[in-house]
Amino acid sequence: MIRIVSACALAGFLSFAAVGPALHAQTAPAQVAKEREDLMKGLWRDYYRDMSQAAKGEGDPKVLAVKATEAAAQMKKFGTLFPAGSGREGAPDTRAKPEIWTQRAEFDAAVDKMVVETTAFADAAKAGDREGMKAAWPKIAEACGACHGGPSKSGGKFRFEE
Ligand code: HEC
Repeated sequence: MIRIVSACALAGFLSFAAVGPALHAQTAPAQVAKEREDLMKGLWRDYYRDMSQAAKGEGDPKVLAVKATEAAAQMKKFGTLFPAGSGREGAPDTRAKPEIWTQRAEFDAAVDKMVVETTAFADAAKAGDREGMKAAWPKIAEACGACHGGPSKSGGKFRFEE
């Protein structure tokens, strides 16, 4: 009996495995676009909103050091979520502009800049250096602006206006 059950489970698994990759290939661009959109939405909500308190000399440096370290990792990950074919040709709802793929070096540099400025903030926070955190904040805001404007519906060099 046990043998029959596990044979059925195995057959089920095999048929899923056969269908799985084809299905995945079809929806991959939309999936990756959704992933990077969710990541971007979370950036402000989960990390940078708290970090922005440092501009007013507020916020706990210990907490903000952790947030900034995580934010830098998120930004690094963001840079990996733009495979070929995941612009509007594959993911019609994406706000990622074609320039991301045609001017890739500039886009990658904008990602790097974001990581560098966020890491500088994290280093200042780790050292408990409030002045350093305050000085790092406007550079972070400027780095966001290299790709798009501040308001969430705004467009920019690398993002379509909503
Ligand atoms: C390297 C370029 C780049 C940088 C730097 C950048 N963004 Fe984005 N952002 C994008 C792109 C591209 C999209 C559109 C993604 C998509 O639709 O696939 C986006 C989308 C967004 C969205 C909208 C998500 C949605 O609903 O589509 C928000 C909010 C956002 N970014 C916030 C920020 C904040 C805050 C910063 C700075 C802390 C920042 N971004 C820095 C490129 C960037």
